[in-house]
Amino acid sequence: MDKILIEGQKPLSGSVKISGAKNAVLPIMTAALMAKGKSVITRVPDLRDTKTMIRLMEIVGAKCTFDSGRLEIDGSTVNNPEAPYDLVKTMRASFYVLGPLLARFGTVKVSLPGGCAWGPRPVDFHLKGLEKLGAKITLESGYILAEAKRLKGTEISFEFPSVGATGNIAMAAVTAEGRTIIINAACEPEIVQLCEYLNDMGANINGIGTMRLVIDGVDSLHSADVDIIPDRIEAGTFLTAGALLGEITLEDIIPQHLDLVLLKLREAGCRILTTTNSVTISPADSIQPVDMTTAVYPGFPTDLQAQWVALMSLAKGSSMITDTVYHDRFSHVPELNRFGANIKLENNTAFVPGVNELIGAPVMSTDIRASASLIVAGLAAKGTTEVSRIYHIDRGYEQIEEKFRSLGANIQRKNSSA
Ligand code: EPU
Repeated sequence: MDKILIEGQKPLSGSVKISGAKNAVLPIMTAALMAKGKSVITRVPDLRDTKTMIRLMEIVGAKCTFDSGRLEIDGSTVNNPEAPYDLVKTMRASFYVLGPLLARFGTVKVSLPGGCAWGPRPVDFHLKGLEKLGAKITLESGYILAEAKRLKGTEISFEFPSVGATGNIAMAAVTAEGRTIIINAACEPEIVQLCEYLNDMGANINGIGTMRLVIDGVDSLHSADVDIIPDRIEAGTFLTAGALLGEITLEDIIPQHLDLVLLKLREAGCRILTTTNSVTISPADSIQPVDMTTAVYPGFPTDLQAQWVALMSLAKGSSMITDTVYHDRFSHVPELNRFGANIKLENNTAFVPGVNELIGAPVMSTDIRASASLIVAGLAAKGTTEVSRIYHIDRGYEQIEEKFRSLGANIQRKNSSA
């Protein structure tokens, strides 16, 4: 199994291009299944998750070609509306095929995802929403079976603005009969892009980017092309490294998607310069402690909570970091403590005292963003860090060690049997 080796405390400088957003491309790929034609998606990050989704596209019968960030999906041959356990268990986003395939075929079978490393992560909003649209839902040997001749528009209110449920229900509703209103919809940029893409395919969604989506059903969708938005979470991860290690510029990004993160970095003492499509960060002389609570967009993203904990572990003072989106998403804390961080956890809050230095250590990845926080900590730590189980990082970060190396970091991938 591969590992990442880091020789820490090398200053960073220069610029790096941010890849297309993982959490935008995955639902958009499933939306392309709704059209009997070829859709071309560009700026597709070459990730383990993208490849898993391509495998799923092929299992359901689509033809895919993926080369240098350009993905062509031909939905005309889709004939098998089923997502098997083997794929869904490795990538929960596979659950996104539920809405589109139900809408197109009137029947779909998708493995129930189960729990994950940081909690139960239920899918009840997706299922209740589909039932409200008139689908019959049954559970059979770990699989969800959903059936409906044609879904019927209705009003759906989510208890919480779930990203996945908003995407799934929006995809199911675009070809339903009549009007669907989604209340308390997610407003994340990735959901905005999904809805805009559905409209390019012929859907009629209004209120995009607000918490009230109004969807007037159309008979069918046609294929369409799309260029994926930049990955704000990859960008945020590089910003936390820049905050600690040197002036870097992130190119090809949309700075507004990071408004609150940039504000928090300024509070921490960093200097930030933005243009329409780039951000330059210069590190603080000393990182100031800044409390942070995650929230749905435009709040501070839970997907950057682990990296913020890593940054704050080197602050001049104590901070409190609370995750309100995923209460158990703290598997990085015991690993960061292996660097000497001394973080304490109480319910969904991490108390981070801030230490003078971190010392490199062997540590283990437990999920995508936890791994990213260990890399940020390893880059800032004195001495050598060895990160194992890095398949987690490969799920969500394109060429992370090449990108950090181009900025001056000493970071290598090693085959552990070598
Ligand atoms: N929730 C329910 N029931 C549901 C759905 C969600 O109770 O049916 C709860 C969840 O348990 C959680 C909250 O609602 O407490 C938010 O979950 P959400 O549905 O918004 O998350 P998701 O759609 O499963 C996406 C991203 C995650 C990201 C979250 C929150 C993708 C493929 N995944 O997950 O990304 O953390 O939104 O922003 O878009 C990552 O990229 O590392 C990652 C985990």
